[in-house]
Amino acid sequence: PLDRKVDSVLNLMTLSEKVGQLNQYNGFWDITGPTPKEGQAAKKYDDLKKGLVGSMLNVKGVKDVRALQKIAVEETRLGIPLIFGFDVIHGYKTISPIPLAEAASWDLVAIKKSAAIAAEESAAVGLNWTFAPMVDVARDARWGRVMEGAGEDPFLGSKIAVARVQGFQGTDLAATNTILACAKHFAGYAFAESGRDYNTVDISESVLQNTIFPPFKAAADAGVRTFMNSFNELNGVPATGSAYLQREILKKDWNFDGFVVSDWGSINEMIPHGFAKDSKHAAELAINAGSDMDMESSAYVDHLVQLVKEGKVKEATINDAARRILKVKFELGLFDDPYKYCDENREKTTVGKQEFHDGVLDVAKKSIVLLKNKKNLLPLQKSGQKIAIIGALAADKTSPLGSWRIAADDNTAVSVIEGMQKYTGNQITYVKGADVAVGRTQFIWETNINMTDKSGFPEAVATAKKADVVVMVLGEHGLQSGEGRSRANIDLPGVQQELLEEVYKVNPNVVLVLNNGRPLALPWADENIPAIVEAWQLGTQSGNAIAQVLYGDYNPSGKLPMTFPRSVGQLPLYYNAKNTGRPTMNEPESVFWSHFIDEKNTPLYPFGHGLSYSKFEYSDLKLSANSFGVNGKIEVSVTLKNNSKIAGKEVVQLYIRDLIGSTTRPIKELKGFEMIELQPNESKKVTFTIDEKTIEYFTANRKWEAEAGDFKVFVGGSSATVLESSFQFVK
Ligand code: IFM
Repeated sequence: PLDRKVDSVLNLMTLSEKVGQLNQYNGFWDITGPTPKEGQAAKKYDDLKKGLVGSMLNVKGVKDVRALQKIAVEETRLGIPLIFGFDVIHGYKTISPIPLAEAASWDLVAIKKSAAIAAEESAAVGLNWTFAPMVDVARDARWGRVMEGAGEDPFLGSKIAVARVQGFQGTDLAATNTILACAKHFAGYAFAESGRDYNTVDISESVLQNTIFPPFKAAADAGVRTFMNSFNELNGVPATGSAYLQREILKKDWNFDGFVVSDWGSINEMIPHGFAKDSKHAAELAINAGSDMDMESSAYVDHLVQLVKEGKVKEATINDAARRILKVKFELGLFDDPYKYCDENREKTTVGKQEFHDGVLDVAKKSIVLLKNKKNLLPLQKSGQKIAIIGALAADKTSPLGSWRIAADDNTAVSVIEGMQKYTGNQITYVKGADVAVGRTQFIWETNINMTDKSGFPEAVATAKKADVVVMVLGEHGLQSGEGRSRANIDLPGVQQELLEEVYKVNPNVVLVLNNGRPLALPWADENIPAIVEAWQLGTQSGNAIAQVLYGDYNPSGKLPMTFPRSVGQLPLYYNAKNTGRPTMNEPESVFWSHFIDEKNTPLYPFGHGLSYSKFEYSDLKLSANSFGVNGKIEVSVTLKNNSKIAGKEVVQLYIRDLIGSTTRPIKELKGFEMIELQPNESKKVTFTIDEKTIEYFTANRKWEAEAGDFKVFVGGSSATVLESSFQFVK
């Protein structure tokens, strides 16, 4: 019946009205791409009135959304409502941790809840579509957008993609607390050369299928209604113009029946890519390749009608794209009530609800990763300690909001100092010591990381000298990661490293609290600083979450979703690498093996790493059988014990290694995880099931299948520390 409704609308439409549905314009104030040309606003209003716009992005707030919707509904011939899209990446006004941080929680329930909060809050301000989740698997910490994804692993990334899609879309798209999700960026965007945003991507089909596609496929299977293509070229073809990606894989192999939106201007960007000769040619290539909606290139609205007339684009192709978009509009319930997201009262009572703050605090605590804790420096005692807090980020109320939080207001995060001051038993002194970033005038573009001012050092050192414990809050400003913020050095920006070393000289009891949007390479800190807490950018409730962890009111449970390297030269660095033909060779006698002569091969902190105030011990790894066959399975069990006096949670991780394959296989692959909560001295048996699905991969036969052979299985608290056993799959 839905298809019939869609067709009944389509049958009424002229060709140019159908093309209008494929056109998405940016609003007139916020921008999330290069600045549009002067004087475009008038054309946009004009097109809107003519029914030549199907969707708007970056229009927010009931008043503004209603005003534009009114034009579409009342002034166009057919009155087809618009969809309103926005980058609700980790919250609208009430901000959750950046997605990379949330991924560190490995807590799918909390992640889903966080997306549901974002959906409810943004649906109350007129929006019905978010350009999230970004599900790009990322292995290069130089790339600024690693903050926006779930890290380096396709398995974890797939689970998180599903949780986020379900959180945004709920079970009823027509409800007024759910919004459309969008799996982006299809595909390969995170594999840009050197991590330089928008750069060339050239990778094998095996990497695409086994590493990059799984979270996209999982999102599609979970019912995500939209996909966004990407800025990059993939093996010589811009993703926006790739029929392989959009038609063959997405719409044919995966049966995706939602629609694909281009990224900002990416249709016209096929011109500088050297793939299209002009905007008209770009429109032809993009629509024929399966890109349904044009975000901010104007290429479709300007050229598609003519291209159909010239026979370069079939009208059936336009119909298919328009049909997909109209269908989603029906699903949202917009044809029943175009103003259903425009309720001023709901807007007032929903935005910033206490319940949202509780939810984002919960996921913020769970996102923190305890990287190191020597000398039992943590948790801090609740009284009787003199604590010095040092670092500009400790006082910052904007940086914790992170990148991609366009609608949130500056200075609305709880700072570390504010969070710490709620614990009144200690004497707390704050000094800045050094800046992180200045010159920030706008959300998007301006940061200055060349900070050389050391004038605050003497006061910081003097204060540290007098303290029992020094909490140093250092790292990147929230705007030093994100789109267009690739870094060639992934250290502490400015003079923060020097500040850390100067303070450490006078007081070695340093707790380093890191705020960052990507893995950083901090070998000196790892070697010298006794306690290191990875606190990312944790959103609105940041300072409260950090204080609760430092004081032990929340026992840290996060695990790294991305490998932390020792130095930038190791990148890309990821745990599920291949073995190579020369993994080790009589080190140190031979140089002829895969390594650096000036750096270790091992990471600073491996994928899956994260400590707790509890002490977890693994034992008794057992397999229910040594082999299984088609339709069979084996169970893998392990005993986890909390050998401490503190209750805590541990993410138990299951990895496999497929020893011989028709194409070479990674040395370890995550295949399962479970969050286990244990009281002091409690033990639990944790069981995982391995079946054919677990060991399937995209083989030399160019299909997903399980190959017979020998496998290793590992269980433990990170990708590096694991118990080991083995099994066979027989066919
Ligand atoms: O959603 C984003 C995308 O990730 C990058 N370019 C702009 C889009 C819309 O703001």
